[in-house]
Amino acid sequence: MRTFATILAFAASAMAYSVTAPTNATGFSTSGQNTVSWSMVSTDAANFTIVLSNQQVNPPVQQILAALVVGTLGTIQVNPPSTGWPTGSGYQINLVANSQQLSSILAQSDQFSFHAPTSSSGSSSSLPTTSLVVPPTFSGQ
Ligand SMILES: *[C@@H]1O[C@H](CO)[C@@H](O)[C@H](O)[C@H]1NC(C)=O
Ligand SMILES: *[C@@H]1O[C@H](CO)[C@@H](O)[C@H](O)[C@H]1NC(C)=O
Repeated sequence: MRTFATILAFAASAMAYSVTAPTNATGFSTSGQNTVSWSMVSTDAANFTIVLSNQQVNPPVQQILAALVVGTLGTIQVNPPSTGWPTGSGYQINLVANSQQLSSILAQSDQFSFHAPTSSSGSSSSLPTTSLVVPPTFSGQ
C-alpha cells in the first residue's frame, strides 16, 4: 500500500486524485451510462475533465466524457459519446486538468474492457409482447 502510494505520488506529483471505478474487474457497459468514481484530498484541483483513453489501438483514443467535473462529487454517471461506447479492451479513464490539457493527467484508472450490459435487471428493455394478443386472423378458415 505504501509502495503504491509512493508511486502514485511520484507519478502525479502533488496531486492525490485516485480513480476507484471503473476497475479492471468492473469494466464499462457498452449500453447506457457508466459510473466513474474517485477519491481526492483537499489540496487537489477543484475540478477536472474525464477522458476515455486507449493507447493500445492505432490511432489512440482520447475521448472527453465530461468536463469541469467538481471533485467533491466523488462519483458521476457519464453518458456515451455521440458515436456510442466502443468495444474491446485496453481502455483507461484519465482524470485530466481540463479539456485543453488532456496529457496533464491527475489520475488514471486500471485498464478495463467494455462488456455487454448484464441482464440481471435488463429484461425490461425488451419490446412489449403485444404481438401475442393479436387475434390469429386466418385461423379456422
Ligand atoms: C475549476 O478549478 C480551477 C482550479 O483548479 C478554478 O480556477 C476554476 O474556477 C474551477 N472552475 C469551476 C467551474 O469550478
Ligand atoms: C484486466 O483484465 C483482463 C481480463 O479481463 C486481463 O486480461 C488484463 O490483463 C487485465 N489488465 C490489467 C491491467 O490488470
